[in-house]
Amino acid sequence: MRVLVTGGAGFIGSHFVRRLLASGHEPVVLDKLTYAGNPANLDGVEVKLVVGDIADPDAVASAGEGCESAVNFAAETHVDRSILGAREFAMTNVIGTQVMLEWARTTGARLVHVSTDEVYGDLEAGGRSREDDPLRPSSPYSATKAAGDLLVPAYARTYGVNASVTRGANTYGARQFPEKLIPLFVTNALDGLPLPVYGDGHQVREWLHAEDHSAAIELVLHEGAPGEIYNVGGEDHENLEVTHRILELTGADPSLVTHVEDRAGHDRRYAIDDAKLRALGWAPAHSFGERGLPDTVAWYSENRAWCDNVKSGDYRAYYEEQYSARLKA
Ligand code: NAD
Ligand code: TYD
Repeated sequence: MRVLVTGGAGFIGSHFVRRLLASGHEPVVLDKLTYAGNPANLDGVEVKLVVGDIADPDAVASAGEGCESAVNFAAETHVDRSILGAREFAMTNVIGTQVMLEWARTTGARLVHVSTDEVYGDLEAGGRSREDDPLRPSSPYSATKAAGDLLVPAYARTYGVNASVTRGANTYGARQFPEKLIPLFVTNALDGLPLPVYGDGHQVREWLHAEDHSAAIELVLHEGAPGEIYNVGGEDHENLEVTHRILELTGADPSLVTHVEDRAGHDRRYAIDDAKLRALGWAPAHSFGERGLPDTVAWYSENRAWCDNVKSGDYRAYYEEQYSARLKA
């Protein structure tokens, strides 16, 4: 099957492209190559890469020529950047998703839209979000993801579009842009730089390996029902627990841990129930503590050129804006 993979030069998309090739499919990548998109993420992978914007219907039609299905990874994905400015988030995450749905509607192709557990908002201790729970997004990022995500069952119901949604937990693994917690803290620890923990560090996230996330998305592509939503869960850990494990694995000095001013609107805890996906036959293959995190830390330490390359240029300006005053305070 020929599959259009939008955002395939990003983190999870680049894992998914490899998975599709291994299962004998033919991916075609459409990617705008924003700061987070990196052709080096597809090094050694035989795939056609088309540079273009999912919010541009002509770009989607042209890249999607001959594709029977599409998986939409393309998005602006970082909460902190959405707090600095949300316009690109609305353009890609809402309008871009609507363009993908129109393409699926006019071509009859199947579409899987990749969404996030952050659309549910945070939960106090106890309880897990299910697919039919109300959405209470807290950040501009999660609000734009929720808007795009809600368009999918609406297009399925109104126009009969064959589209499903996945809502994945916090994902980690090789080739993640070092603005997110794990790659930022691992690369900073390797460079002897501070690890900026927001607030008290007792926030809880569910951690899902990128390969397990990709397996779930492929399963939903083949077995998911139109208009249906599937949570993809991970393992619950507090941020401070993850931070201390990174210190152990990198051998970095614990004095690098620096508590800084909290993120505005910071969600305290995410927790999802993924029984619906497990009923389709999915189960994660990576345990966070045993292999998942150690292998991920090893990847960043063995790929310093990749890290140095993405931590240059605009990244430095972003880092300065996001952390400089916080770290001085
Ligand atoms: P990423 O930021 O690493 O990659 C996003 C990719 O999309 C980049 O290659 C970028 O160039 C591309 N892109 C951005 N805007 C585009 C546009 N307008 N047109 C075409 N391409 C565009 O993101 P990721 O972490 O791989 O996330 C992929 C998807 O998974 C996103 O939809 C995200 O919301 C979702 N998700 C991510 C996580 C996570 O923890 N990383 C968890 C759950 C869901
Ligand atoms: P992040 O990787 O940005 O994912 P998300 O906000 O989408 O869950 O952050 C994961 C957790 O780590 C979240 O609680 C915020 C926290 N965090 C820090 O404490 N310091 C940081 O520098 C970053 C980037 C995140």
